[in-house]
Amino acid sequence: MMGQYSMTMTSKTAATTSMKSGGYYSESTRGAKDVIDNASGMLMDAIAALPEPSTDRALNIADFGAADGGTSKKSIRASVAAMRSKFPERQIVVTYTDLASNDFSTLFKSMQGLEGNDENTYYKEFDGVFVHACGIGFHNQLMPDRSLDLGFSATAMHYISEKPCEIPDHVHMVGTSGATLEAYAARAAKDWENILLARSNELAPGGRLVFMNFGKDEQGRYLGGTGGADMFDTFDMLWKQLATEGKISEAEYINASFSQFYRTKEEFSAPLVDTSSAVYSSGLRLISAHTGVVGCPYRAAFDQSNGAMSAREFAVSYIPTLRSWSETVFANALDASRRNDERSAIVDLFYQRYEDLVAENPDGHAMDYVHCYLAIEKIS
Ligand SMILES: C[S@@+](CC[C@H](N)C(=O)[O-])C[C@H]1O[C@@H](n2cnc3c(N)ncnc32)[C@H](O)[C@@H]1O
Repeated sequence: MMGQYSMTMTSKTAATTSMKSGGYYSESTRGAKDVIDNASGMLMDAIAALPEPSTDRALNIADFGAADGGTSKKSIRASVAAMRSKFPERQIVVTYTDLASNDFSTLFKSMQGLEGNDENTYYKEFDGVFVHACGIGFHNQLMPDRSLDLGFSATAMHYISEKPCEIPDHVHMVGTSGATLEAYAARAAKDWENILLARSNELAPGGRLVFMNFGKDEQGRYLGGTGGADMFDTFDMLWKQLATEGKISEAEYINASFSQFYRTKEEFSAPLVDTSSAVYSSGLRLISAHTGVVGCPYRAAFDQSNGAMSAREFAVSYIPTLRSWSETVFANALDASRRNDERSAIVDLFYQRYEDLVAENPDGHAMDYVHCYLAIEKIS
């Protein structure tokens, strides 16, 4: 039976999910690269466990939700090298997936070193390696049945396929409760099941998944919410301030709802350990699950400068990493009737205020990364 799972995403949800393009994403997202680099041992373990395919087909690696491919390039190069060393005769296909709105152009320039940086350009380094892309969301099955050997994904599957509703009292699910939170949790649970069933169809027997996704850890910590000034509360406070001042409307305040959900380790693991679930029946098995915090590199540089860096310099270095993934949410919350220059002015003012706030008092500002790391196997 062909395993087809089909989910569509409205263009509005897709528009608020995209990263800033033109290479801005990986240039401004050192922390996301640290997360992947730190966990690249999980990829090596997965490759060490891979069985040789029974036919002479190529080996397939996929990076689900790759953005411009910059943050995973080093780890994907290491994975290609490890696969080549284990199975020297096999050709290798690396498929980068993301939404149709993603900047695949920057990705392909970077893969070929066309921007003058040859670092980790494995496509040129190894013979018999092919680089493909797929601009369809990962809630769908993206590859043929039993064709994928190693599926990788970092910091991407917290995006839900559809907002069940706007969040009336905050910009993010971490700041809401009651029926709104329940609706987001239900959407996220269904999406996670769809993601796993789609990957299960794609995986070859013995194939592996290595996922590192934003989540909530055992202490309730999450991205930018690890004890200091809470990043999502700050976003909410500043966005609400614009509404109070009449610079944006009440509807524009409410429309800025991130289409994200931070799952706990238990929520990630549930369909993989529940022997009665469709995911378990499909042959997916959890090998390991753990949470981990990777500190904000911009905060670390500020702290380590021992006063050499001013609070303003820290703020100027820090805000772009927030902006790289959040800007589309705020820009698209603004009414469609607004002119582009008006829209840009509001968004610039919003981030300028965040920068000023941090420059005035940098205490506790840090976007620490909180992830749940999963290793998964397809047994049959
Ligand atoms: C924060 S970025 C992470 C990029 C990269 N994997 C990393 O770790 O740096 C999240 C990426 O997930 C992508 N994304 C979100 N929803 C997606 C979906 N349904 N299907 C595929 N990609 C998606 C976004 O477009 C974005 O490029």
